[in-house]
Amino acid sequence: MSTLQTIASLIYLISAVCYVLGVHMMRSPKTARKGNGLSAIGMFMAVIMIIIEVVADGKITATGWIVLIAGLAVGIAYGVVKARKVPMTDVPQLVSLFNAVGGGAAAVIGIFDYLMKGDGVALSLAFSIPVFLDVIIGGITFSGSLIATGKLSGKVPGKPITFPGAKILNIIVVLGMLVAAWFMIATPTNIWFVILGLAMALIFGLLMTLPIGGADMPVVVSLLNAFTGLAVAFAGFVINNQVLIIAGALVGAAGTILTLQMAEAMNRSVANILAGGFGTGDSDSGSAGPDVPVDVKETSADDIGLQLAYAQNVMIVPGYGLAAAQAQHEVAELATVLTEKGINVNYAIHPVAGRMPGHMNVLLADVNVPYDQMKQLDDANPMFESTDVSLVIGANDVTNPLARESGNEISGMPILDVDKSKSVVVIKRSMSTGYAGIQNPLFSLDNTQMFFSDAKVGLQDIVAATKQYLDD
Ligand code: TAP
Repeated sequence: MSTLQTIASLIYLISAVCYVLGVHMMRSPKTARKGNGLSAIGMFMAVIMIIIEVVADGKITATGWIVLIAGLAVGIAYGVVKARKVPMTDVPQLVSLFNAVGGGAAAVIGIFDYLMKGDGVALSLAFSIPVFLDVIIGGITFSGSLIATGKLSGKVPGKPITFPGAKILNIIVVLGMLVAAWFMIATPTNIWFVILGLAMALIFGLLMTLPIGGADMPVVVSLLNAFTGLAVAFAGFVINNQVLIIAGALVGAAGTILTLQMAEAMNRSVANILAGGFGTGDSDSGSAGPDVPVDVKETSADDIGLQLAYAQNVMIVPGYGLAAAQAQHEVAELATVLTEKGINVNYAIHPVAGRMPGHMNVLLADVNVPYDQMKQLDDANPMFESTDVSLVIGANDVTNPLARESGNEISGMPILDVDKSKSVVVIKRSMSTGYAGIQNPLFSLDNTQMFFSDAKVGLQDIVAATKQYLDD
């Protein structure tokens, strides 16, 4: 092993340690930002080392340099600008786009190396199997993630897209992939079988994602994220690069765990989600679900201000509507106004509130809500009985008591026991349903009052009213 190879192996090892520690630090919101930075440093070191290796190899042509520099410049510029500008609610589609790029890049690496090595000599299974898996998984991730991005951003209809004969087409496509696999291994010089494998994988990615409703897309994005990791790990085997293998395996494992956790928190199986046809991602899905009384008591900002000013314990329950309205600054201001007067304020965070993992934590951390005020489901639930006012802001399904009954879309889903508090105030714009498309009996309970308003505008009025009562 040359000195450069030894240094490269060491750098890749350090990079891998940075990723592992970085992911570990992301377990807590307090250390997540530093963890992200550490992982980025690891990735930066790996990229620089790869460039040094390419230069030392001396085989890169002028065209190669142009492609390398242009690729780096476009990638860095797009990544920096997009990540800085993206609103929090659009992060899932950005992640999905990054998945598409990762999967596509892994597939291209596999095809390129197959072309380079497939020069008539028999290829070992240790080479051809990772290439095949790399191209197939990368291809599925690429097209599947592009559709997921389109659905999340509204460019592709969010409703499940199905058509007659889809199952038969799926079977044909899977058979096509198997045929391509067999011939890629048996006749290593024939590029047409690699192209066949890639084409089948791209079609399979479309067929897999189109029938899934927009609201299930975050779970699908997480699954495709796991696929990206796997494709990258196989690309690492193909070009014998440890850092790709380790980083890919980490992403694959993290994506798989996240997918399973999200499915569990929604009380659905991954298979059920992939079967499609559930949810459109919007609150106007219209289905009423089980019959529930819809007579509700309306309240005003002034009355809510009065209740809050005379409360001892207040629990804020944020949901998707808070994120959609971008009302995190207003909610943090309200909490500050109350805590300054000695009122206990906490936030009850449901694991799948919003539309992406950790959505509420990220949103609240962004406006410097103290971490000790953010109570996760198990810690929050015992607190509701001693809560004077629960302020439910743009949350619906995560508070729906129907989850405790059988036979509906959210049966068995763990919920926040908001209905156990002395008084419940719900801020939302209408009686529309949430993601699961079913009505919420919480809204018509005796201790619940509805404040129909956009979360941002409503909270501004509530802050003003609360200040007035607190100052009196
Ligand atoms: P939802 O049940 O989706 O309800 C959100 C509510 O916010 C809607 O009823 C809507 O009612 C209201 N809303 C929308 N825009 C608003 C605005 N500008 N101002 C005020 N209110 C607004 O949200 P949730 O309780 O957070 O539950 C999340 C759901 O998404 C769960 O069913 C979960 O399983 C699912 N899900 C979550 C994830 C992750 S990982 N978080 C991933 C996929 C699916 P109006 O239209 O009447 O205002």
